Amino acid sequence: MAILVTGGAGYIGSHMVHGLLAGGEQVVVLDNLTTGFEWAVAQGAKLVVGDIADQALVGKLIAEHHVEAIIHFAGSIVVPESVSDPLGYYKNNTVNSRALIECAVKGGVKHFIFSSTAAVYGNPEKVPVGEDDPILPVSPYGSSKLMTEIMLRDAAFAHGLSYGILRYFNVAGADPQGRTGQSTKGATHLIKVAVETALGRRARMDVFGTNYPTPDGTCLRDYIHVTDLTQAHADLLAYLRKGGASVTANCGYGRGFSVLEVIQTVKKVSGVDFKVEMSERRPGDPAQIIASSDRIRALSGWKPQYDDLSVIVGHALAWERKLMAKRN
Ligand code: UFG
Repeated sequence: MAILVTGGAGYIGSHMVHGLLAGGEQVVVLDNLTTGFEWAVAQGAKLVVGDIADQALVGKLIAEHHVEAIIHFAGSIVVPESVSDPLGYYKNNTVNSRALIECAVKGGVKHFIFSSTAAVYGNPEKVPVGEDDPILPVSPYGSSKLMTEIMLRDAAFAHGLSYGILRYFNVAGADPQGRTGQSTKGATHLIKVAVETALGRRARMDVFGTNYPTPDGTCLRDYIHVTDLTQAHADLLAYLRKGGASVTANCGYGRGFSVLEVIQTVKKVSGVDFKVEMSERRPGDPAQIIASSDRIRALSGWKPQYDDLSVIVGHALAWERKLMAKRN
């Protein structure tokens, strides 16, 4: 029996594969390598280069490897890109996920864990935001993920699939053992950008907006270490395997840091005082988004190990140095 990890050559997926192998699981990775890397797939997992929309391929993999569970990471993840290319996002994140869910149902897969996002909440009225708070995505990215949540719930109800939907907050950091990390070129995420700037890969960076209704005027986010996030998937799978009811749960730590606090931490941990400019707001940014993560903790016993911004930044820096050496 195997676990099929879609997007297992990507940032979060590659961490998941390490975690699953360490737990003694048999792992098959399906990744089209659009943004993932072959080298990011841990030894011991079988990599199949292909698309989740290729139902003949997915059906064959499920049957051949007796796939018991699917952990579905593959998708597009850049919010501003989704605004300029909504149909691309609805295809990759919604239409293709529908094809995958159908294969799961037809192939008799028992459990399905789906990477969703805090972006389904849009601009929350209050923080921390709970799973039953209003859902109002403000980007095609958030909508594309929300539609998949709905399809998964309905299909699971009709066909007896058990599912876990995890709504990720701001995922950051890298494998503490330095085996994988965020490797996408042209990344836009705050910690990645700040770390690249500290290491001289960018001449300067911008703070997008300094007049938000927050303590220092910059946006607050709930940054969660990628290894804690993937551990939440492993804990959720264990819960589902024990017969736990299907669930939708937030995945964050429940506390926020401002953009300026993050930049200050990157400066402190790296020892580099890099150039930062105060700029205009970036369209579509909510002032603050922080998770209430009580549900996942109570259900699965998830206990984060890396809830420390300096540690998250330290791991991101260590990985960026490795990546620079790899690329030189
Ligand atoms: N920011 C800057 N400068 C930069 C990059 C980012 O000031 O160079 C700011 C942004 O304006 C925002 C904050 O840092 O206020 C965080 O921005 P990110 O781009 O790192 O992340 P987002 O909060 O926009 O989005 C991320 C994921 C989404 C997810 C969301 C949930 O990309 O998938 O977190 O909070 F939905």
